[in-house]
Amino acid sequence: MLTIGVLASGRGSNFQSIIDNIESKFINAEIALLITDKADAYAIERAKKHNINFLITSPKDFQDKDSYYSHIADELEARGVGLVILAGFMRVVGKTLVQRYPNRIMNIHPALLPSFPGLHGHRDAIEYGVKISGCTVHFVDEGVDTGPIIIQAAVPAYDDDTEESLSDRILEHEHRIFPLAIKLFTEGKIKVKGRKVLIDSGREESALINPPL
Ligand code: GRF
Repeated sequence: MLTIGVLASGRGSNFQSIIDNIESKFINAEIALLITDKADAYAIERAKKHNINFLITSPKDFQDKDSYYSHIADELEARGVGLVILAGFMRVVGKTLVQRYPNRIMNIHPALLPSFPGLHGHRDAIEYGVKISGCTVHFVDEGVDTGPIIIQAAVPAYDDDTEESLSDRILEHEHRIFPLAIKLFTEGKIKVKGRKVLIDSGREESALINPPL
């Protein structure tokens, strides 16, 4: 069975959706560890409630970024983690972790990449005036939200949207496509060819358009 490690900095609703999808047996995997950089992250409460080990570790306690991410990689490897999930981890992951988990770190981003990467995906999409936005699950490489795209879901963006209303609409789909990507990974259905991710079970599962056009 695949062992997962989760990195999160905040409320952890994506972390929760993964827990729920494991408990309902949609995903056949176990979560060995939550790592957070914030001692007050609500994700910790979720870990406690579900008896998941957690570790609080801040880059401030390390000499540099490389040693921080080597430490995280050591902790993950020590627990046999085969897939790392960034569930609202608000940092650009260092190369010392990326190189030890090539195409085995997944992130969820609240915009249709490659548009609006970075910390303010919702705000940037609204300010740009897009009519469609959404979310993207992708593998993590050394760039900022630049790794190969696994699944995307699209939602409408309305003229009167605020960051909050758009974020709520997108979040619903984050909670659907992140567990789906993890499930496909556990089933060995995801292949990476350069920039492209090929999904064995068919093209319908990687492009989700809501509402149907
Ligand atoms: C989500 O919007 C996700 O797309 C982004 O960070 C946020 C995390 O939310 N990467 P949560 O902590 O999972 O509720």
